[in-house]
Amino acid sequence: VVLFISVNQILLFLLVLTICVILYNKVHKVPSTLNNETIDLENPEEMEEEIPVVICAAAGRMGATVAAISSIYSNTDANVLFYIVGLKNTIPHIRKWIENSKLKEIKYKTVEFNPMILKGKIRPDASRPELLQPLNFVRYYLPLLIHKYEKVIYLDDDVIVQGDIQELYNTKLAPGHAAAFSDDCDLPSTHEMVRSVGMQNTYMGYLDYRKQTIRDLGISPSTCSFNPGVIVANMTEWKHQRITKQLEKWMQRNVEENLYSSTLGGGVATSPMLIVFHGKYSTINPLWHVRHLGWSPDARYSEHFLQEAKLLHWNGRYKPWDYPSVHNDLWENWFIPDPSGKFKMIRPNS
Ligand SMILES: *[C@@H]1O[C@H](CO)[C@@H](O)[C@H](O)[C@H]1NC(C)=O
Ligand SMILES: *[C@@H]1O[C@H](CO)[C@@H](O)[C@H](O)[C@H]1NC(C)=O
Repeated sequence: VVLFISVNQILLFLLVLTICVILYNKVHKVPSTLNNETIDLENPEEMEEEIPVVICAAAGRMGATVAAISSIYSNTDANVLFYIVGLKNTIPHIRKWIENSKLKEIKYKTVEFNPMILKGKIRPDASRPELLQPLNFVRYYLPLLIHKYEKVIYLDDDVIVQGDIQELYNTKLAPGHAAAFSDDCDLPSTHEMVRSVGMQNTYMGYLDYRKQTIRDLGISPSTCSFNPGVIVANMTEWKHQRITKQLEKWMQRNVEENLYSSTLGGGVATSPMLIVFHGKYSTINPLWHVRHLGWSPDARYSEHFLQEAKLLHWNGRYKPWDYPSVHNDLWENWFIPDPSGKFKMIRPNS
């Protein structure tokens, strides 16, 4: 009998324990699991991977940012989250523009870029001061500006996206590669454009090979360059390889030794990237970076080719919101006027 009672007591104890565990789970774990399931069942869209797209909003050319965002948003069903990077004084303007237009439906976050991070790292260049815009260097700091994503898209502001951004996001990065870019030797049509406007598409156009530091890199001057205006990046690899630190080092060395060609039109942000990513990047489908539309007010692509293009980039001096410029009708399709009236397109009859 004594034995029977004690077995009973053990069973009772176990029963009480089980009830306690069940209650504990109800209070602590179960609700959150249920919650997640409910969200997933009711909103299948919520399950879709979020595509982070980083784009800058610079004072004086915010119309570019707006047109780029509107083109991306209008051509995809993907779950895009825009990270709009600006300086402290530009952020309220872009927010107003978005909130007071049809773009108010987009998902976005604004991120402030503090230009102090560049102090002592930029060499003054009197010939094209606009290229020294601090926001040109935002792409160096991607992992510091946005967190929690492994894969990120960065786009220059002077682009228009005609394809589904999901396709660009699906660009495969080879193991060990922190980024994918578009090669400057990829497309025959680009080749023709490059020849017709007399620009460089090799490392020679960006690095000063008279400098020993450059020659010591052991990179052939005829190596094809790439354009970092469209980037698909792997943040894990980026951090692992300390890409930001390496880029900063090559900015600093330029301040000390003047290593980069001063005649280049490709932007001061390009040269350090050419060095750091040499031989270590994946490539983007060439139709996802059709460029040089801003190189000359006369050089044009065929309409047929432009129709096939997934992304158009007006790199160069002749911007599509300015005059003169080429193929600006393709850009204007996506432009949304500034509700505050501060930004205006420049057109011959306006
Ligand atoms: C449910 O959501 C919570 C908080 O949002 C998260 O911590 C947890 O990992 C999620 N659980 C599952 C099973 O996804
Ligand atoms: C990013 O890089 C890490 C580390 O090399 C790798 O494990 C991961 O699969 C990569 N992710 C993508 C999306 O390429």
